[in-house]
Amino acid sequence: MARTIKIAPSILSADFSRLGAEIEAIEKAGADLIHVDVMDGHFVPNITIGPAVVKALRPHAKKPFDVHLMISPVDPYLDAFADAGADGLTVHPEAGPHIHRTLQHIRKLGKKPGVVLNPGTPIEAIDNLMDLVDLVLIMSVNPGFGGQSFIESQLKKIEAARRRIDATGRHIALEVDGGITPETARRAIAAGADTLVAGTAVFQGGPSRYAANIAALRE
Ligand code: DX5
Ligand code: ZN
Repeated sequence: MARTIKIAPSILSADFSRLGAEIEAIEKAGADLIHVDVMDGHFVPNITIGPAVVKALRPHAKKPFDVHLMISPVDPYLDAFADAGADGLTVHPEAGPHIHRTLQHIRKLGKKPGVVLNPGTPIEAIDNLMDLVDLVLIMSVNPGFGGQSFIESQLKKIEAARRRIDATGRHIALEVDGGITPETARRAIAAGADTLVAGTAVFQGGPSRYAANIAALRE
């Protein structure tokens, strides 16, 4: 079945000294979503950006901000990211304590709730959440850093997520994040993904390459 593939460049691989211009450039180059990786040095071993930066960047883009929260606890920060201009808020069940309540709260804020599974987290973790989410994200690397290699075993999990999404009859995006290249993109799409996060593969070569890099992932 042919699906429209959405590309979500991860700004983790952008030039942080000129993030506003980088977002404008990827949007012009064909990005469908802006993927923002939020890390706290506690849930994951890296620290990135917070709500103030999201707010500053928001006027630089027209496309939705797909905000991936790798922070624990996550609940105290949901309102701040919503106010800053996030469109989707995606959370890890491990960020606890109550993933179901967290997703309900994101919905109440008027944002798109997403759930994300680490490579070691079984697919069953989404079984009681399907009615609450607009996006399921399968991590194909362990969260924390860009530039890692795609973990093959996650292809089976993408297939399992696709079956669960199709069974709902609702539109739920199936996103894959980590180690996406034109080669792994093809395999993730074949397994059922419709949204691809890519940092390294989009930003490599600098702004003159962004359009070609994004097109290569879509093919
Ligand atoms: C990892 C992040 C990813 C990462 C992807 O924790 O969630 O979004 O930036 O980077 P690449 O595409 O380089 O693997
Ligand atoms: Zn991410």
